[in-house]
Amino acid sequence: CGIVGILGKSAVAGQVVDSLKRLEYRGYDSAGVATLEHGRLTRRRAEGKLVNLELRLSQEPLSGTIGIGHTRWATHGRPNEINAHPHATDRLAVVHNGIIENFRELKAELEAKGVRFETETDTEVVAQLVTHEMRGDKGPAEAVAAVLPRLRGAFALAFLFDGEENLLIGARRGSPLAIGHGDGEMYLGSDALALAPFTDQITYMEEGDWAVLSRSGVEIRTAEGAPVKRQRQQIPTGAYAADKGNHRHFMAKEIYEQPEVVARTLAHYIDMARGRVCPVDMPVDFARLDRISIAACGTAYLAGMVGKYWFERFARLPVEIDVASEFRYREAPLEKGGLTLVISQSGETADTLASLRYAKQCGQNVLAVVNVPTSTIARESTAVAPTLAGIEVGVASTKAFLCQLTVLLCLAVAAGRARGTLSAEDERGIVDALIGVPGLLAEALKGERQIEVLAREIAKATDVLYLGRGTSYPLAMEGALKLKEISYIHAEGYAAGELKHGPIALIDERMPVIVIAPYDAVFEKTASNMQEVAARGGRIVLLTDERGAAEAGLETLATVKLPEVHPAVAPLIYTVPVQLLAYHTAVFMGKDVDQPRNLAKSVTVE
Ligand code: G6P
Repeated sequence: CGIVGILGKSAVAGQVVDSLKRLEYRGYDSAGVATLEHGRLTRRRAEGKLVNLELRLSQEPLSGTIGIGHTRWATHGRPNEINAHPHATDRLAVVHNGIIENFRELKAELEAKGVRFETETDTEVVAQLVTHEMRGDKGPAEAVAAVLPRLRGAFALAFLFDGEENLLIGARRGSPLAIGHGDGEMYLGSDALALAPFTDQITYMEEGDWAVLSRSGVEIRTAEGAPVKRQRQQIPTGAYAADKGNHRHFMAKEIYEQPEVVARTLAHYIDMARGRVCPVDMPVDFARLDRISIAACGTAYLAGMVGKYWFERFARLPVEIDVASEFRYREAPLEKGGLTLVISQSGETADTLASLRYAKQCGQNVLAVVNVPTSTIARESTAVAPTLAGIEVGVASTKAFLCQLTVLLCLAVAAGRARGTLSAEDERGIVDALIGVPGLLAEALKGERQIEVLAREIAKATDVLYLGRGTSYPLAMEGALKLKEISYIHAEGYAAGELKHGPIALIDERMPVIVIAPYDAVFEKTASNMQEVAARGGRIVLLTDERGAAEAGLETLATVKLPEVHPAVAPLIYTVPVQLLAYHTAVFMGKDVDQPRNLAKSVTVE
């Protein structure tokens, strides 16, 4: 979760730990540091909080002037020392954020060559791969260059090499990494905040970049290996607490953080090595339930609606869902011993909290899918399923929504397993698709430029209609909500099949119609709704994949092509263009995207 690297003049272990402390807000449950002691790689790692690592360091101090450190959220199994970063071989140590999607294949390949592994982590696979290249006579930078193109997924990496007193290598793909410039010292950090005690001179690495650092400076290369210059910026003092990275707004930063935070959330819910969802700490066995209720507000409610499709499809578990302001007053009969799910980013939303209390009064168990672990909702619920999105500053929720979807899909899969409605093979299929999500999100973010151009058209509209079917229907509503929240353009999300029961009367050339339609089981149905729009002169923006674009067979204002994905994870990937479209429309119109008028981040009144 937190990465730090220092090429210093004096002993760095203490500085590495101090810097990791600044990243504590990201949450973690083990930590570690590696330095070179007289040229030899040496590690200290500890389970639990950083004080435990500090204690170890006081008992067995490190004096190296070059080092890397990490704080880690446990994946499956225990957050023990063996699994803590840095991972190391005799040649190098590495720390890592994110997910290496194809690690099982790469591991099998190395095992066949006789390489032995200490852990089941994807990180160790990176360490072993680079080591393998180095045994074949490559230098550190060449070895890293040979390995990076083989890794799939979204990640940030920092390497320290045995015997190399003046070399750190960092790489970023989908997960941020910043370089700090000091006076004869250099730094790496997963965000600039970590580097604030040392320097205010920061270079943000760009997607796909990797960097070779020495005490005299840095050489950055693109994914293709070409040397490249990236701007060095001075971060004003005091700006760190509200660090936007190299983004103009928190909302953009948070959209771009999604590959990383989803990877972090997945690490908590998925056993990557076995391709299964981890057992969830549930207040009641899914197998014993006849139905569940969901209550939430705003964007969290729309995540819940996607969840409903998943619980019903994969676990054959009926779901009743309400906006919390209705749920709390409509006196829904709730069975004693049943389960209510509340979903909330802040954990403080008044209506959601009241729904939780109502459900508890009825004798229900309440499972809270919540982002702020210390919140009232987290404290009052029977059990918590955390969304590990980190602090969300932008009022319009983005990364918290994606983490809510991630958690809900994992819960639905866990429910399907408990209820015997999902085969091991289908579970494996969904889990593999989930492991691929951070990489696909990074891929989807590459479409930003096209959407930025398209946003200029959308900005001219006074009304926008979003259509979708199946899990794309709640996403259509989320798209409309995002757009109206931050651009103040009136927008509505509709089930594609409902078009003919009302909104079709509104279609003309002035109202753009955004259609969310991955090529899935309901694509053809949505395509005929699109034809109905086109026949009435409506202008369509189609969000689909290669196959969908080919099959749609009509003229659009724009077709945004996304990667082809497993239908279960499509809502996660299609969220990205929907968010970017709202964002760029609002930015183009000069609106205050991070703090839209009349809205609050956390609504603690009725
Ligand atoms: C406010 C925010 C929305 C959010 C909703 C629910 O209206 O502006 O972005 O979706 O509250 O908030 P919660 O913290 O419960 O998820």
